[in-house]
Amino acid sequence: MLATMPAPPPDARSFRAAVTAVTPCGADGVLLRLRPEVELGPIRASRFFMIRREDELSPLIPRPFSVYRQAGGELEFLIKVMGRGTRALAETRLGESLRVIGPLGNGWPTLDGDGPPWVMLAGGVGSAPFFMGIQQALRGMDGREGPRPEDVHFLFGAATEGFLYDIDAFRELGVQVHTATMDGSSGLHGHVLQLLESLQADGVIPRVIRLLACGPERMLEAVEDLARERGLACWLSLETLMGCGVGICNGCPVLTRPEGPRGDWPNAKCCVEGPVFSIEEISMHASSAEPQAAPNCG
Ligand SMILES: Cc1cc2nc3c(=O)[nH]c(=O)nc-3n(C[C@H](O)[C@H](O)[C@H](O)COP(=O)(O)OP(=O)(O)OC[C@H]3O[C@@H](n4cnc5c(N)ncnc54)[C@H](O)[C@@H]3O)c2cc1C
Ligand code: FES
Repeated sequence: MLATMPAPPPDARSFRAAVTAVTPCGADGVLLRLRPEVELGPIRASRFFMIRREDELSPLIPRPFSVYRQAGGELEFLIKVMGRGTRALAETRLGESLRVIGPLGNGWPTLDGDGPPWVMLAGGVGSAPFFMGIQQALRGMDGREGPRPEDVHFLFGAATEGFLYDIDAFRELGVQVHTATMDGSSGLHGHVLQLLESLQADGVIPRVIRLLACGPERMLEAVEDLARERGLACWLSLETLMGCGVGICNGCPVLTRPEGPRGDWPNAKCCVEGPVFSIEEISMHASSAEPQAAPNCG
């Protein structure tokens, strides 16, 4: 029997979008607002778009970004300046036209109100897929009633306060927002898993929870280890390096678990089979499932 090649989602397309706002955000980021030339349906949180400028300032290969907000026919992206591609996007001017491909990827699972509380763990710009994730959870998804705001905890960790991007907007969503910074400039002095530990020790968050996480690789490794040790349901949104974003270049492999539902192949393609995976499907650890050292959120 022929195996089916994972393909980009049917609603993905290539289009131009005009820049309608570029607003500084945090110590090194921007909120980039775009008006697509095509009409897009509602987009599930933690899906993403490949974006590039069409001039010589941009690398040829577009860069992937989670959709941060969708409103009034516009898309907004939270972009941390890392290198050439993100700098070029942060320096775009109003009215400039960008090349965009998407929406791509799968997005968060349905966040229902029937089970244990949802705990969202964000490291630095890993907060991007959670803003709409929280909005959609509270609204209810796929015909299911969503959790109560008190059963959604957003734990935001970063190296320092300046990387807690757009934190006030998260607070305005009405869920439980808690922060941790490695230098103690906001919230708990430490990383996001120490924050979880401390909130559970204080009885603010129960022991049995459902976890969603997005952030640096070492943070996600530590989240995976914790979820396995405690037998918790857990989904990770991965920010793997990507080339094409549509399943062609094999540039985004993620290790599958031999005993999991994707175990018939050693790798999954993050772009077309992710970027969200449950820890039943994949492992962040390349060679072993041994717990790693503490994460560094940034
Ligand atoms: C599905 C997905 C969603 C993403 N969503 C967002 C988002 O909403 N906001 C955002 O700011 N970023 C997001 N990213 C990461 C973003 O795509 C990268 O930061 C960007 O591609 C860097 O491009 P650059 O040209 O500026 O940097 P490059 O010049 O390509 O790299 C500069 C430095 O950053 C490192 N780097 C590049 N990409 C990554 C990465 N993914 N993880 C860790 N280090 C990296 C490189 O190794 C290098 O050291 C996402 C990535 C994926 C796969
Ligand atoms: S980025 Fe090319 S296959 Fe995933």
